[in-house]
Amino acid sequence: MSQARIAVLASGRGSNLRALIGAIEAGRLPAQVVGVFSDKPDAAVLQQVPPALRWSAKPANFDSREAYEQALGDAIEAARPDWIVCAGYMRILGDALVQRFAGRMLNIHPSLLPRHRGLRTHAAALAAGDAEHGCSVHFVIPELDAGTVIAQARLAVAPDDTPESLAARVLAMEHRLLPAVLQLAVSGRLAERDGTACVDGQPMFTPLTLDSHDRLMP
Ligand code: GRF
Repeated sequence: MSQARIAVLASGRGSNLRALIGAIEAGRLPAQVVGVFSDKPDAAVLQQVPPALRWSAKPANFDSREAYEQALGDAIEAARPDWIVCAGYMRILGDALVQRFAGRMLNIHPSLLPRHRGLRTHAAALAAGDAEHGCSVHFVIPELDAGTVIAQARLAVAPDDTPESLAARVLAMEHRLLPAVLQLAVSGRLAERDGTACVDGQPMFTPLTLDSHDRLMP
């Protein structure tokens, strides 16, 4: 069987991409990264792959957001990915782009969705007095951070946690959760049907959770 092809959209430092590459190199994820796509030409994430796999463009250099996303979508398509992963891609995706890759575009978000969509999730979890916090991987739909959640990893909020300490602990969990979900995806077991995530053809009514051995459990 040919290796699954993964495209990554990212705007920043790229530690989640690093985790995916690490899982591939360790033989835990039978896949290859076929392109990294960024709206920030100087983003550190781009340095993690050879130049031939990098694509970046400043949205401001295009006439419209639609024109930028058309170019981005064409570049993604040219890489022929099976799965597209948003890992710290800091722009809201337009409907046309999302529809173009519907059912095979995933996002990692640093909260236990549906709690705390958007930015500054760690401060929001603290402000809300949440006992638990964590991260989620979900299918991307046009509404921000709103697609069906596939899997989550959770941790207990400590009384002395700050947004920074929580961010660091959640990030470490992201690095375990994202490769685990991609493993499920590239094995052909994950799909989205009528807005619901399905594993082995069965709709999931609650997200999978990551156990201490990095396995996804119902
Ligand atoms: C992660 O916290 C991710 O959940 C969020 O943006 C951050 C990206 O970090 N969407 P990195 O660039 O992968 O290090």
